[in-house]
Amino acid sequence: MDLAGKHIVLGLSGGVACYKAAELTRALAKAGATVQVVMTEAAAQFITPVTMQALSGRPVHTSQWDARIANNMAHIDLTRDADAIVIAPCSTDFLFKLAHGACDDLLSTLCVARPAHVPLLVAPAMNVEMWLNPATQRNVAQVRADGIQMLGPDAGEQACGETGMGRMLEPEHLLADIIASFQPKTLAGKHVLVTAGPTFEPIDPVRGITNLSSGKMGYAVARAAYEAGAEVTLVSGPTALDTPFGVQRINVQTAEQMHDVVMSRVAAHDVFIAVAAVADWRVRNRASQKIKKTDEQRTPALEFDENVDILAAVAALEKKPYCVGFAAESENLVSYGEAKRRKKNIPLLVGNIGHQTFGQDQNELVLFDDNGHTPLPPGDKQTLARQLIGEIAQRMARGWLNAYP
Ligand code: CTP
Repeated sequence: MDLAGKHIVLGLSGGVACYKAAELTRALAKAGATVQVVMTEAAAQFITPVTMQALSGRPVHTSQWDARIANNMAHIDLTRDADAIVIAPCSTDFLFKLAHGACDDLLSTLCVARPAHVPLLVAPAMNVEMWLNPATQRNVAQVRADGIQMLGPDAGEQACGETGMGRMLEPEHLLADIIASFQPKTLAGKHVLVTAGPTFEPIDPVRGITNLSSGKMGYAVARAAYEAGAEVTLVSGPTALDTPFGVQRINVQTAEQMHDVVMSRVAAHDVFIAVAAVADWRVRNRASQKIKKTDEQRTPALEFDENVDILAAVAALEKKPYCVGFAAESENLVSYGEAKRRKKNIPLLVGNIGHQTFGQDQNELVLFDDNGHTPLPPGDKQTLARQLIGEIAQRMARGWLNAYP
């Protein structure tokens, strides 16, 4: 679970988006966090503390003068064991309070009283004009400068009927950003290009050749790179997966399309991670109309051309990014893995142990580099992807270009 052992203080200020905080509370709890809800008086006009208490499984705090806390120090007691404080929704007025260090209710006071190491994340929710107002924008700039992390807002339809910037991010997006906030920013400022999923090579307009790749590992790698602070572009073959939040996704179908998209964008990237299961061949005599069975010909005679090796093409560029390949072998992983790494001339190759990984959530990986091979402890694909990103960042920091001219 992504937030196992984390204690989150979830603060609600007044706004229609308080209903989304209910869902966020469930999502945080499902991800393994304990959630302590604190509400302003205005928030309690939009959603009841009873609802929030039922969802969080803990008494909700609304007042600085709560007799339940013996020493009347709720603003201190509630923050000392917090791993993060999240304000969702954060109203225009609450943003003003944060920007000015106001302490006129429990929630604003505990934000000011939080220990310096406890991150504060705020999810603004307000009408578009309120968001665009210069006074609000001044407050946004101030809270950013104070090291408070802004989650959103988003643009779109608003509860008031107007459209524009100021919508609170959806709960699942907030959850993803909260999880990301706990990950080390090992790739901050880097641009990462990832390929994922299978490719699909058409035979005719309704048929084609593809493989069992679900895209899960590649998507997990893209998400982990985003969590590590990178700007991530994901070039994806056909999958049923949602795009990880914060990642730019470009859909392709064939290996040729994947190659063209990668080659047109790779120059702007520091890292290239080829996780896609790219089809090795495409059908040369692809039919423009659906192939029919006739009495003369019951089975089509397919001919193939070899697809370009995208990873090898990137690794052969004069100005290349740090290249990482993946390999799924059904036998002799160690010798095949090392040979594949050398053939493609890349500093790091990731071997999947066994070929049963397709579509699964668990995986086992072995890293091949100049120092030999190192297995990572088996785990779920997201955890492994985070470890892999850490390993990539370490290797890049050590320097690699000289060995791969
Ligand atoms: N790859 C690629 N373009 C291709 C084929 C593979 O970018 N046309 C990348 C994959 O994304 C993966 C790595 O190369 O990172 C290894 O792919 P794999 O198919 O296992 O290697 P091959 O060299 O094709 O070897 P083989 O199929 O013989 O095992």
